[in-house]
Amino acid sequence: MEYLKIFAPATVANVSCGFDSLGFAVDTIGDEMTFTKTTEKGVKITNITGANLTYDVDKNAASAVVKKMLIEAKADFGIELTIHKGFSPGSGLGSSAASAGGAAFGTNQLLGNIYSELELTKFAMFGEEVACGTPIADNVSAAIYGGFVLVRSYNPLEIIKLPVPKELRVVAIHPQIEVKTKDARDVLPTEITLKDAVTQWANVGGLIAGLYADNYELISNSLVDIIVEPVRKTLIPHFDDVKNTALKAGALGAGISGSGPTIFALCKGDKIAEEVYKSIQESYKNTGIDFEMFISKVNPNGMKILN
Ligand code: HSE
Repeated sequence: MEYLKIFAPATVANVSCGFDSLGFAVDTIGDEMTFTKTTEKGVKITNITGANLTYDVDKNAASAVVKKMLIEAKADFGIELTIHKGFSPGSGLGSSAASAGGAAFGTNQLLGNIYSELELTKFAMFGEEVACGTPIADNVSAAIYGGFVLVRSYNPLEIIKLPVPKELRVVAIHPQIEVKTKDARDVLPTEITLKDAVTQWANVGGLIAGLYADNYELISNSLVDIIVEPVRKTLIPHFDDVKNTALKAGALGAGISGSGPTIFALCKGDKIAEEVYKSIQESYKNTGIDFEMFISKVNPNGMKILN
């Protein structure tokens, strides 16, 4: 294979209670990337559209991953990369994860598919570290594996693919402000009480049990985050209004997507998802803040080869 074009999906991480450990891929938003084999070794970014990102191959999350993989695989070729961002960095929808995960996936194809999804996730985590200082796995594993994932362990890395109830839909609103992941991590508590820990891990267990059992009521009851959301929501204008509007319109739950500012709501079925979409749209119009919205199914496949 000499050339490849791929779609790398946006992702929702944390999913309320599962900070740094739960995530899912969406199918309506993502990046497109191309990979061209070159006889000259190394990596070069020839074009970036849709966002203002660095062409410095050691600082760009995508090229840093390509470079690392080519060196580790002792490849006798190089790669020219183009990146078209379909959504903004700093949105909370896993922008750097789509770039880093897409880079790992695309490079692996040109290398002849030598790495597993788990190994690709590890490479992509390096891209996350380049982008935001921490090798987080929730967004990248969701983008690479597709569907709903649990990062069961970071050391050693273990990713579990979870079932996705058929009628699950996500509605998301992205207020057009940027929240840097690093800033959103700097506000987090470094210690929590045992009581809060019990509440949080019980909700993670409940959410996962709900996904396995197709039990929307259990999913709804478990979409609660008492640790991260209370501190991060202060960075997101009108968070409480959006969440209350979504719940009133019938959403199963709502929370911050990744490190924000995107707010996601999970819904049962298309009809309720459309109601939730309309209600949030109506109420946010009055805030004076520009925003974008989408409805999506959970994307079961993750990365997609376009040609
Ligand atoms: N789990 C991460 C966070 C996702 O919430 O900080 C952002 O990359």
